[in-house]
Amino acid sequence: MMKLEVAPHGGVLVDRAVDPDSVEALQEKCRSLYSRGQGVHLVNRRISDLEMIAIGAFSPIEGFMGRADYENVVANKRLANGLPWTIPVTLAVVREEADNIQLDSELALVDSQENPLAVLEVEEKYAYNREREARLVYGTTDMEHPGVFNLHRRGDVYIGGKITLIQRSSQRDEFSKYHLDPIDTRHEFAARGWRRIVGFQTRNPIHRAHEYIQKAAMETMDGLLLHPLVGETKSDDIPANVRMRCYEVLLEHYYPKDRVLLSVLPAVMRYAGPREAIFHALVRKNYGCSHFIVGRDHAGVGRYYGTYDAQYIFDEFGEDELGITPMYFDHAFYCNKCEGMASVKTCPHDGSHHVTLSGTKVREMLAHGQLPPQEFTRPEVAQVLIDTLRGVDG
Ligand code: ADX
Repeated sequence: MMKLEVAPHGGVLVDRAVDPDSVEALQEKCRSLYSRGQGVHLVNRRISDLEMIAIGAFSPIEGFMGRADYENVVANKRLANGLPWTIPVTLAVVREEADNIQLDSELALVDSQENPLAVLEVEEKYAYNREREARLVYGTTDMEHPGVFNLHRRGDVYIGGKITLIQRSSQRDEFSKYHLDPIDTRHEFAARGWRRIVGFQTRNPIHRAHEYIQKAAMETMDGLLLHPLVGETKSDDIPANVRMRCYEVLLEHYYPKDRVLLSVLPAVMRYAGPREAIFHALVRKNYGCSHFIVGRDHAGVGRYYGTYDAQYIFDEFGEDELGITPMYFDHAFYCNKCEGMASVKTCPHDGSHHVTLSGTKVREMLAHGQLPPQEFTRPEVAQVLIDTLRGVDG
């Protein structure tokens, strides 16, 4: 029998936001720690992780990982307590900073203008092996890989400990009406009476293939959480504000409103392929999804991962311990013979009948103001992209 509500990972939805009555006191403490040299600056990526922890999107994680969790995640894709978890969530500082940070004390986390963001209870400082993390988490040590590149920009020492968030960053204002925390999406699902909810991760404008797999899933679900990731992505991905306009026009013209919830995931992209697919699924479970779509080369980049590796990795875990059901989709395309969207699972015709375009080709067409074929992209979506590229509206 279907449970009424999907349990968060580890059983409890984490809430590491300061109690509203204590905001000023903690702000004061944060400022004072910072003025005594017990503070570090956070920018985009680390602020995103901090907030994701605080709102429970990374439940059961309550802070930046200590060594035991970190080591087990890297080596065995599990937290120290055995729960599945595939991506390290760590706070790196440079060695000089680390030398000044005292164990068993508190650390101020501030933004670039020195505004207090959070306080961290310093439990551990530890060195890590960058090459090993790259090899095991990203499957490569190639600096061309954006995840590996980021790893090399970080300091040498990880600081582990629980955090208490004081305030959200201003980045949150950008898509404010689409910012729902896990507690909010859960309430929304309950209000709509949805029990079978499929989550969809994306970092791209929605093309017909995305639309097809979403709708194929929606046929057997109560609703879709369309959950684009809006944290930092690599510079040649389409910016989140442009993508949001694409999602809006797509939903307006092609989706039933009462079956879709559009909301943003303020996480950063790691491009860790298979490991990130598990991570994306667990995070969507925390937002209340019962199912999660994994298509071709999920969270992949370049040619680092096999087309379906992000599906195979789910076999390494029991469905019960993941607590969210993956829905796998093969490479989808429009077939001129079938006169519809299909995949090799449903279409018997050879590739010459399929409409497939490379990303480069699509970008070229858009840059010249040409609409890609309707079989590839909805014209309303393509128009948003063309207008943006030509600076009409972006
Ligand atoms: S991702 O980095 O967020 O995975 P993208 O936004 O392109 O990139 O993909 C979102 C989801 O759609 C992923 O699960 C991906 O595997 C799936 N997907 C993208 N394109 C296709 C396609 N042509 N056929 C099947 N699945 C696809």
